[in-house]
Amino acid sequence: MNEILRVIKNRRSIRQFKTEQIKKEDLETILEMAVYAPSAGNRQPWHFTVIQRKELIDELSEAAKEMLKKDGQSPYSRMAENESFHIYYHAPTVIIVSGSLQGGFAQADCAAATQNILLAAEALGLGSCWVNLVMPAFKGEPGEELIKKLGIPEGYRPLYSIALGYKGTTASPAPPRRRDCFNCIA
Ligand SMILES: Cc1cc2nc3c(=O)[nH]c(=O)nc-3n(C[C@H](O)[C@H](O)[C@H](O)COP(=O)(O)O)c2cc1C
Repeated sequence: MNEILRVIKNRRSIRQFKTEQIKKEDLETILEMAVYAPSAGNRQPWHFTVIQRKELIDELSEAAKEMLKKDGQSPYSRMAENESFHIYYHAPTVIIVSGSLQGGFAQADCAAATQNILLAAEALGLGSCWVNLVMPAFKGEPGEELIKKLGIPEGYRPLYSIALGYKGTTASPAPPRRRDCFNCIA
């Protein structure tokens, strides 16, 4: 099969990682691929924060869990109650993708960049997981503090995040895909 098609089909969300850090050159390649995503009007309205400090990754996980626990309505509240649950599955690298608040299509553009990151990781033999459970950590005053601590530039807000690392497990088979989602008008 064509290599790009193989990578798209083989990418899975990985939720178990080795502690070993990823190579600097692999991280650079991944970030390079991120900025080659399409963006509306070529605005490139994104900012990428790479976190490789374990204490900070743990802090994000704890902050998100605390907020989820407080929100009794969230379907994830029970997961957050589990002390051993880590929202980033102890991945050694996390990338936060932030989008510009300056109108446009930042959400779509940043989602495209996020997918490029996942695919580049797969192509390099790394595991990844798109993790949006972190988002509650950026709410309210403590969330603003966290955004400052992460060095996210003024005018940008975290939209998505990715856990990255060497796979600690072989990927399980792909969850079945819906097949009733196509139509064709010829
Ligand atoms: C917007 C978005 C948010 C997601 N957030 C999480 C998350 O917080 N935690 C997690 O373990 N997986 C998360 N996922 C991964 C999905 O659960 C996963 O992509 C889906 O189950 C399909 O599995 P696959 O990625 O192996 O194809 C997220 C995926 C997307 C697109």
